[in-house]
Amino acid sequence: MTTRLIRAIGELTTNDPSIGDGTALGRLRDAAMVVDESRVLWVGPNLHAPEADEVLDVAGAAVTPGFVDSHTHLVFAGERSDEFEARMAGTPYDGGGIVRTVSATRAASRAELTTASHARAAALRRSGVTTMEVKSGYELTVEGEARLLEVAASITSEVTYLGAHVVAPEFAHDRDGYVELVAGAMLERCAPLAKWADVFCDRGAFSVDEARVILQSARSAGLDLRLHGQQLGATGGVALAVELGAASVDHCTYVTDDDLEALAGSATVATLLPGAEFATRSPYPSGRRFLDAGVRIAIATDCNPGSSYLTSMPLAMALAVREMGLSVDEALYGATRGGAAALRRPDIGHLGVGARADFLVLDAPRAAHLVYRLGDAVVSYVASATDPDA
Ligand code: NIG
Ligand code: FE
Repeated sequence: MTTRLIRAIGELTTNDPSIGDGTALGRLRDAAMVVDESRVLWVGPNLHAPEADEVLDVAGAAVTPGFVDSHTHLVFAGERSDEFEARMAGTPYDGGGIVRTVSATRAASRAELTTASHARAAALRRSGVTTMEVKSGYELTVEGEARLLEVAASITSEVTYLGAHVVAPEFAHDRDGYVELVAGAMLERCAPLAKWADVFCDRGAFSVDEARVILQSARSAGLDLRLHGQQLGATGGVALAVELGAASVDHCTYVTDDDLEALAGSATVATLLPGAEFATRSPYPSGRRFLDAGVRIAIATDCNPGSSYLTSMPLAMALAVREMGLSVDEALYGATRGGAAALRRPDIGHLGVGARADFLVLDAPRAAHLVYRLGDAVVSYVASATDPDA
């Protein structure tokens, strides 16, 4: 293993409260860090930096953990910019366009899907994402969903089976038959290819009772659970996620005080997706309300062709600050350690000793520039650990 010293760090954000200023962000000024190809080996004052095989002098730049994007739908074909334009002119979002992407995705070759998905993953990485979750959900057939999961697995180990995105068009008059398929033969084919199962539990998609059946079957098949909940209305997805001990309930655009009480102290993270409120012209949920209630939050992109074609985590953070009432540090924490919690990954989202060596060097003296310099490419170097668990 080659060791590498990153020295002359002006501001190091570790997200480890035992380091530095004692806050959750674990900040250290004039710091240094030693890593090998996979892990953080040492963190401390620049003056006390040990020797290493290689040296990277960052000349006063800020360093942060890599972003953890815990919610994407990268594997799709086609585009729906016409829907976006209609929404900007006032047409509401109801998830109805999903079937258009299903048609385009079914018609695409595996090579086309792979190339397009990898290009979007590369854009996320350029923005500083070092771990991303990727879902299926745009074929809605047994072999099609399996194909999307295989493409997703060529990008990440955080692969999610979303056969229950909407009812497949072939089952428009037999939704019970589709729920049976998703919780039966499709799950059996897809479970070995995924780590997570997800359901779009909302108006126009799946009910709480349907989602419960699908998720319980998925758990029996060995998958861990996450849920799309309460994007379009307060329809019970949050309570279901808490009831089932899901790792995360995502969107939470509409939540009640009871939802927040159930989430606080539960094993479930609330993942906020401000790109979706932006691109569907929906009201943003107040992130402050979640934090004040004691709920753990994550910030993610939800990158997809319909409700949020967002491939920048700094922009997701900026929207969370400006529109959801978070501080810059809360947004940074949500985009790093929050995302890690939403994926139940204690090894990422922080830079304590033993963490994966996933970090960002910024073209800036402070991490706040990620949000302050809106639209600028503030991340100048993305380091990802090379062990296979990425
Ligand atoms: O997370 N809400 C459901 N799924 C996606 C949108 C999918 C689409 O519109 O294509 C989301 O917003
Ligand atoms: Fe989504």
